[in-house]
Amino acid sequence: MAEERLRPVTVWDPWVRIVHWLTVVLLALSFGSIQYGNMRVHYLSGYAVLALVLFRIAWGFVGSDTARFGRFLRSPVAAVRHLLEFPRRHPDREIGHNAAGGWMVLVLLGLLLAQPLTGLFADTGYGDYGPLAKTVSGATSDWLTGLHHRIFYYGILVAAGLHVAAVIAYAVVKRHDLVRPMVTGRKRLPEAVAGPRLGSPLLAAMLLVTAALVVWGVSRLG
Ligand code: HEM
Ligand code: HEM
Repeated sequence: MAEERLRPVTVWDPWVRIVHWLTVVLLALSFGSIQYGNMRVHYLSGYAVLALVLFRIAWGFVGSDTARFGRFLRSPVAAVRHLLEFPRRHPDREIGHNAAGGWMVLVLLGLLLAQPLTGLFADTGYGDYGPLAKTVSGATSDWLTGLHHRIFYYGILVAAGLHVAAVIAYAVVKRHDLVRPMVTGRKRLPEAVAGPRLGSPLLAAMLLVTAALVVWGVSRLG
């Protein structure tokens, strides 16, 4: 069979990549700050995660093709079929999340939204609390504080661990390097594969600013 000619294609826009890697750094900062009892840094990094995730959710509706939920959330049957074919080695032709990975992305984004949202209601009991903690009863705040802990330790850490394990499995089993495209945005794909349509940078900037303003407004409520 003739060799397929490959060309570099931008598969991930800068917004998806910035949100991804900033979130990874901010999660580490959120965890580190709470270990050192620095609540100010904890709140700030948590607000930043919330703003990024709100932006990413909006971008999932109006952004680049590969960022859109409607494009990467395929049927559960397609997801299972993808997993069954996993051990077969063939060249990477995917221009966005694969059929199984898409659902994992939804889970990760859900957890990344729930974490700072519950944090808004969390209370240390020692005079430090999220801006909305006093808008609910003590029992509700205690419950949401408990959820805030559990979502991190049993949700985010487990899901992120599985996510990184999957990325490593793609590299080892299928020889697909998914990390480089998440860094550079580009993948080498056969010329026959059409690249995705990229979203408007102006719209992205406006959504980011709006998300930041919403979170800033919420932070001022307490
Ligand atoms: C706390 C840690 C992490 C979280 C919460 C996380 C979360 C996510 C999310 C939500 C996406 C979807 C991106 C989008 O569509 O906007 C994603 C994609 C991706 N992440 Fe992570 N990530 C984490 C760590 C990492 C690390 C350490 C690596 C590198 C080894 C990595 C590599 C990737 C890659 C390659 C993709 C694209 C996968 C594909 O091609 O479909 N992630 N991650
Ligand atoms: C993605 C962002 C966040 C992450 C990863 C995160 C993570 C955590 C973790 C792991 C703990 C428990 C530490 C422990 O005792 O073992 C914690 C506690 C806490 N977080 Fe967050 N948090 C985030 C966002 C926020 C936000 C936005 C707020 C409020 C503005 C907040 C407020 C609190 C408070 C008040 C506590 C102390 C609860 C207690 O003493 O039991 N967090 N956070």
